[in-house]
Amino acid sequence: MATMESLIGLVNRIQRACTVLGDHGGEGSLWEALPSVAVVGGQSSGKSSVLESIVGRDFLPRGSGIVTRRPLVLQLHKMESGSEYAEFLHAPRRKYADFAAVRKEIADETDRITGKSKQISNVYSPHVVNLTLIDLPGLTKVAVEGQPESIVRDIEDMVRSYVEKPNCIILAISPANQDIATSDAIKLAREVDPSGERTFGVVTKLDLMDKGTNALDVLEGRSYRLQHPWVGIVNRSQADINKNVDMIAARRKEQEYFANSPDYGHLAHKMGSEYLAKLLSKHLESAIRARIPSIVALINKTIDELEAELDRLGRPIGADGGAQLYTILEMCRAFDRIFKEHLDGGRPGGDR
Ligand code: GDP
Ligand code: NA
Ligand code: MG
Repeated sequence: MATMESLIGLVNRIQRACTVLGDHGGEGSLWEALPSVAVVGGQSSGKSSVLESIVGRDFLPRGSGIVTRRPLVLQLHKMESGSEYAEFLHAPRRKYADFAAVRKEIADETDRITGKSKQISNVYSPHVVNLTLIDLPGLTKVAVEGQPESIVRDIEDMVRSYVEKPNCIILAISPANQDIATSDAIKLAREVDPSGERTFGVVTKLDLMDKGTNALDVLEGRSYRLQHPWVGIVNRSQADINKNVDMIAARRKEQEYFANSPDYGHLAHKMGSEYLAKLLSKHLESAIRARIPSIVALINKTIDELEAELDRLGRPIGADGGAQLYTILEMCRAFDRIFKEHLDGGRPGGDR
């Protein structure tokens, strides 16, 4: 288990190195080879809330009036000990120890820049699992006043560019108070992942359904079958957010909701944010394990390319761009060594 965690941590570091290098996930890039988890769904379906509860920390701007305009990539790093903090790629030397400040920085930066570029934040904490999470803008059906007509398609295309990657694990978020059969999240997930092997169906807002109705047909897989089980969620309501209800209280309330529900009581052990987080990390572990050989191959390819580039620049390298290449090359070599140790020493799937 410790081995697996360090491996996921390693993967996070490679992803970060690639981003620093300006490798934004092009064809055959390392970034593309590494697993991540993205939330997809309509506006205000509860995407940011679900991401937050998976992390178990309050740091995402969320609420009915808050709109994510560009992808936010969150890399979570588990520390053995110490107090938690976050860093942003756009402000590399600043450590944010206060998560309210993290939320504000994400919101401010989103307002400063909109468009295709992504925002990247690293979160270090003893209370998270190692994961890369992507909060994507909400899918819309119509352009609102002041927006170009093309906005609906533009957002969908941008979201698709993330979730079509074979290594992207999709959290398809559908609110229970809307028709799930016509859910945009499920539609897009089905398009990019027809077999459903990397799609997790998440139903939010169970507490907001009309009295006398329930989501059992969906949660029990009768309405729409996915390979993975559907997970029902009760996030904080807007009133909870306004009252600053914290994550721990919210999780307790969610657990109680399922345990005491006449409709969902029999499913309580397979519902809720905590269960979703466990399901995801298990899936991620096996996904990474399956990808090790191709990650090693890609790293070796990168090493070859970097060596060729360094040869072209000529050694010794001064304090110019070459120095950075050299650092990355050293990192790649180190990653390669560690991966090989994992390959040689790890019995596939055996050390859980
Ligand atoms: P996003 O726009 O998809 O990221 O959605 P947010 O996470 O920002 O949530 C939008 C609004 O819906 C906020 O006011 C949340 O409090 C509320 N909300 C999200 N999930 C739930 C839920 O399960 N139950 C209730 N009652 N409200 C929710
Ligand atoms: Na929102
Ligand atoms: Mg959001």
